[in-house]
Amino acid sequence: MTHIIDGKAIARQLREEIAKETAQLVAKGVTPGLAVVIVGEDPASHVYVKSKATQTVEVGMASFKHVLDEGTSQADLLALIARLNADPVVDGILVQLPLPRQIDAETVLHAILPAKDVDGFHPVNVGQVATGSGGIAPCTPFGAMKLIKSVRSDLAGLHAVVVGRSNIVGKPMVQLLLDEHCTVTVVHSRTQDVAALVRAADIVVAAVGRPEMIRGDWIKPGAIVIDVGINRVITEDGKSRLVGDVAYEEAAKVAAAITPVPGGVGPMTIASLLANTLQAAKARLG
Ligand code: GUN
Repeated sequence: MTHIIDGKAIARQLREEIAKETAQLVAKGVTPGLAVVIVGEDPASHVYVKSKATQTVEVGMASFKHVLDEGTSQADLLALIARLNADPVVDGILVQLPLPRQIDAETVLHAILPAKDVDGFHPVNVGQVATGSGGIAPCTPFGAMKLIKSVRSDLAGLHAVVVGRSNIVGKPMVQLLLDEHCTVTVVHSRTQDVAALVRAADIVVAAVGRPEMIRGDWIKPGAIVIDVGINRVITEDGKSRLVGDVAYEEAAKVAAAITPVPGGVGPMTIASLLANTLQAAKARLG
């Protein structure tokens, strides 16, 4: 029987653990605080930010939401980040992406104090994660790794194939898998014979944003399949449906364990953000 990895349940369990540790910090007089900054009206971003705030409060942390106008200048956003960097009740800062055109995302992300960069996007954190010397890992790969480890705790020597090389998912995923002593292959849009490489994988992490690109007959029997993709497609009967980067029905017949979409990696990302905020608050305590 294929094991369907229940991201919702694992995320809930992670939040429960975070809530317990948060209560211990609060008892010591430190309430972990997460500031989320959103610029503009993007409806999907507002939905994410609302969930983040709700879950932050649910685990006992303080949530600070900063909603800025679509027309906000880069200088004004940088001034807010400077204030949040200096604010002792703020342990984590997340600037929701995408940002409006007049703002350079890289400049903004690099302005966040690395110790408060709970997205793990600052080059200091990227470097620390890459060298295995601590740092804050980006939420999606962090959550994906928790899901892999829910299936199997010892990954040493397994061949992991990461499909996609984005800075947010693919590249940091490689680092986390290397830390677990996997042999790692990264495939991307210029790779020759992606299918043959995926067929050699004990662990597949798909993060390309191409609906159902990875077919069932690419999956090695017994593999662990983690699908990071969330793609909205229109079905033949005109309905809208979310699918991953993996052809789920086909792959589930072959894999030992697989994440569904939705309900796999998705629910883990906010829980991972809270884990990063807790880590930052613990670091503040020393
Ligand atoms: N928008 C979509 N995903 C993310 C994310 O992981 N971090 C931030 N800051 N914005 C996002």
